[in-house]
Amino acid sequence: DLSPLDKAKFAAAKRAASFVEDGMRVGLGTGSTAAWLVKCLGEMVREEGLRITGVPTSARTAELARQVGVRVVSLDEAKWLDMTIDGADEVDGDLNLIKGGGGALLQEKIVATASDQMIVIADVSKQVETLGSFPLPVEVIPFGWQTTKVLVEEALIGMDVLGRDAGLRMDGDAPYVTDEGNHILDLHLNRIGNARQLSLVLNQIPGVVENGLFLDICDILVIGHGDGRVQVRD
Ligand code: A5P
Repeated sequence: DLSPLDKAKFAAAKRAASFVEDGMRVGLGTGSTAAWLVKCLGEMVREEGLRITGVPTSARTAELARQVGVRVVSLDEAKWLDMTIDGADEVDGDLNLIKGGGGALLQEKIVATASDQMIVIADVSKQVETLGSFPLPVEVIPFGWQTTKVLVEEALIGMDVLGRDAGLRMDGDAPYVTDEGNHILDLHLNRIGNARQLSLVLNQIPGVVENGLFLDICDILVIGHGDGRVQVRD
């Protein structure tokens, strides 16, 4: 039996899977909600003969997709995608997102941007009025990361945010390493007043590869509730 949280995630994933049509090339997100989606798609492949090509956004998702029988290719093989379905850490009323809690923001952003449509699946707890309670992940290259961290913190001084603490994400005793071999700074901002400006400023700092703000990328939001109901917004 599923917990209400898992019921919500599953319901959102199941609804999003119904948008997938035969022959589509689909970007596969990362995280516990996206994992439900990959399982739903696997079932459609095995039981309904759905033919799709999946482009995973992490090694974890690639492994799961193969396990459940979804054909996996690289983004360069697929070239362009019909849709990407992924989870999120926060979503606001304009369908702007914070992503990267699972550490896969870089591949997720590249894949979502290379898609005609991005569908976000989330349980209702991910909905916020203003982004920023969830720490904003920023992917930085390992070379000189401490200097990059100082530059990031200095850049935050001029920004419309309520906190400025940047913490290096850890994996036990060692810095967390992304699939692309980078590290992640988690920015504790509490409230992001101007996400567009913040994203531009962060991505201009040498050593910053990408940040977890997904602005104007999500087209459809599927919210799942603990009782299995879903709401679709676009
Ligand atoms: C992965 O890097 C993130 O962007 C995920 O989409 C996010 O962490 C959502 O994960 P859950 O579905 O497990 O909450």
